[in-house]
Amino acid sequence: MDYIDSTSFFEINPHFKVTRKIVFGETILIYDNILTEKSFNNLDKISDNFPKTLFLPNYYNQNGKTYIDARTTLEFKNNYLMMNFLLNQIFQHFNGLNVSWFEYLVINFSKSIEPKKNMIGNIPHYDQEDFASVLFFDDIEGNGTGFYKTKTGMHLILNKTDEDISFCNKFLDYGYDYYFTQKDFETFYDEMEFIQAKKNRLLIYRGRMLHGAVHNENMFKNNFRKSMITFHSVMRN
Ligand SMILES: [Fe+2]
Repeated sequence: MDYIDSTSFFEINPHFKVTRKIVFGETILIYDNILTEKSFNNLDKISDNFPKTLFLPNYYNQNGKTYIDARTTLEFKNNYLMMNFLLNQIFQHFNGLNVSWFEYLVINFSKSIEPKKNMIGNIPHYDQEDFASVLFFDDIEGNGTGFYKTKTGMHLILNKTDEDISFCNKFLDYGYDYYFTQKDFETFYDEMEFIQAKKNRLLIYRGRMLHGAVHNENMFKNNFRKSMITFHSVMRN
């Protein structure tokens, strides 16, 4: 029996490497080997141990285009404290900010059931909070997160007007599709910056930047894409 060692959950690796990448004028922080190996392996193992029978197909069929994937989110309601301590230290040190705690430990798994040709990945969208973090669990070439700039010059959606300017009032219907293709990219966007997924790599970025998961039609057919996410707002007093 391979036991999970719960004493070292979310142990920060004192030797992690931080890189700042400027994308459309915004700073994205990339932390490599953020958790100790033991801590990362525990998290990897404990999340993999959940039965995959819980995964049910989701059907996305906006605009007549059907995409099917299987996904679930594991939410550990009572085990999020250490991760928040860790993230708060990182935010204070590297961004000089106090941020709100995220109330769950959320690990997303997704697998393509009907992959689409020339698919780039998840449709560009923005998150509701000021900051988002994503921790990657695999090294698959070409898997990661994309950041986008629209043909109207927008990369940050702060309010309804920004949304209207970006997509000329047409994007919302379109936006409920899960996936988007090379052709969609050419229709709506000018630029994309890609950040490769890596085991034990954490990204912190402004949640209002247009972004999406990147994985083409050849990936995640037989295995799951796995990532841990958190969302934070800046605490103002
Ligand atoms: Fe997102």
